[in-house]
Amino acid sequence: MTARIVVTGKIPSAGLQVLRKAGLDPQAWSQDTAMSRQELLQQVKGAEILVTLLTEKVDGELLDAAGPQLKAVCNVAVGYNNIDVAACKARGVTVTNTPGVLTDATADIALALILMVTRRLAEGERVIRAKTSWQWGMHYMLGTGVTNRILGVIGMGAIGIATARRAKACGMSIIYYSRSEIDTKIATELGAKKVLFDELLATSDVVSIHCPSNDSTHHLMGKAQFEKMKKTAFLINTARGPIVDEQALVDALRNQEIAGAGLDVFEFEPKVNAGLLDRDDVVLIPHLGSATTETRDAMAMLAADNAVAIANDRKPLTPVA
Ligand code: DGY
Repeated sequence: MTARIVVTGKIPSAGLQVLRKAGLDPQAWSQDTAMSRQELLQQVKGAEILVTLLTEKVDGELLDAAGPQLKAVCNVAVGYNNIDVAACKARGVTVTNTPGVLTDATADIALALILMVTRRLAEGERVIRAKTSWQWGMHYMLGTGVTNRILGVIGMGAIGIATARRAKACGMSIIYYSRSEIDTKIATELGAKKVLFDELLATSDVVSIHCPSNDSTHHLMGKAQFEKMKKTAFLINTARGPIVDEQALVDALRNQEIAGAGLDVFEFEPKVNAGLLDRDDVVLIPHLGSATTETRDAMAMLAADNAVAIANDRKPLTPVA
């Protein structure tokens, strides 16, 4: 008898192939749009392993709907704020995520947002697309250079480090705030200095968020924090929306407490605060951090590898601590 695996969202076929090659017969959602909650609660009934996307809320209700035979939830994402890990633990359900495979793709997007917002690239593109008349001018659409500026990284995990590397290549110096220590070799290579949170806010020209989203990081960036930033500084968020109090960000931009923001994620995703939409000092992209074909394949395959391991009573590759 093979384990009953339910894949609750559409994942790349590379992931399904891993499951099938291992002799498993996943029941997989094949539509691009997410299942309704009602449907989800129905579909998970009797599953032993769930392969989930970040758009699915895995809470006590869903775990109960699945039933006591549920062994694991394998999220196809590095972030797992969609999963109530404590509720899983309480039911003996293992949770896995997909670290590593999306590090470079996400860091690329963080760097892209840094350059887009500091150099006003989206704004410039809008000028052209709107067929607004324009002409090169000595003072036309001047931005802020990043060379010799300071990048402040909040959360110096793999993606924070990869972003710092890219920023260093652009001539930025790196400071960071992180709960954990980083490898001294990496710190030396990057010339990165660990600082207190308030010092990072007060010193950075660009603040880039790379920490996980959880109770302790909810609204880590709010009114008080924006007030501490330089008026010339930019905020970048490629981590998770709820880490930033989006209304406080809008207010800070309106009050010119900071110079701009580049956002890949939103507090109430997919909704975006209306106060951000018509501002030229923000760059808004729709959660594209890991959105390359090869990265999504790798994420699906890693989640599937975790599911296969669990189905065979082996340790998963990337359990959530
Ligand atoms: C993740 O894996 O957490 C990313 O946000 C997905 O794009």
